[in-house]
Amino acid sequence: MRIPVIAGNWKMYKTDKEAYELASSLKNRLKDVNSIKIVLCPPFTALSSVKKGIEGSNIHLGAQNMHWEDEGAFTGEISAKMLLSSGCSFVILGHSERRMYFSETNEIINKKLKKALEVGLNPIVCVGERLEEREAGKTEEVVENHLKGAFEELSEKEAKKVVIAYEPVWAIGTGKTASPKQANDVHRFIREKLKGLYSQEVYESKIILYGGSVKPENAKDLLNQVDIDGALVGGASLKTDSFEKIIRSAII
Ligand code: 13P
Repeated sequence: MRIPVIAGNWKMYKTDKEAYELASSLKNRLKDVNSIKIVLCPPFTALSSVKKGIEGSNIHLGAQNMHWEDEGAFTGEISAKMLLSSGCSFVILGHSERRMYFSETNEIINKKLKKALEVGLNPIVCVGERLEEREAGKTEEVVENHLKGAFEELSEKEAKKVVIAYEPVWAIGTGKTASPKQANDVHRFIREKLKGLYSQEVYESKIILYGGSVKPENAKDLLNQVDIDGALVGGASLKTDSFEKIIRSAII
């Protein structure tokens, strides 16, 4: 039984005050939802206000990135332990925007993943192809490369704790969603690949989220697919109404 996860990636949106308001209104609206894991990933500067906003609820706090070292002279960076001490239990790693604009490689993502697991954060690792890669028929090759790169040297025990998010880059922020079948095919491919790397248990229990223009209008169809276990939502997670609707679509 895979418990659905719906995570909101707020990217570089929301000031402290705006973040508090959104978090507390979600807390009030979602009091009755307990069959789904809800995760809010605000910018670093709003972690503490979102923590206050969700206090007393079972909504989880997550970050959007971290450094792989414990501490040091790394101006502008945040460590895994700092995230833990700010109340985070999740962290998004290897988002395509980090790969694209901040030159994150598989090696960097692998180092971050190992550190997140070492300190006890639940990582959400993103994989996904760009439009030209899909058009060239390279989707599976790219996704396999991201997957193997991120999971390099991870033990069975560690691999079990990782949440995967399939986010086709061409569907992020573009309004173009992968069709439920297109998304499910890649989710199935990811699950099959994990079977080659780890046990049957990892294969069966792995939570694989879909991300890329998830909206209230398409959430149900996507979440109904057998291999889609939740969503990583960008734009539509920035408003209470739309995010609430997506969360409610995940209730079976
Ligand atoms: P959108 O939902 O805005 O397309 O963003 C998806 C995403 O990148 C989530 O991490």
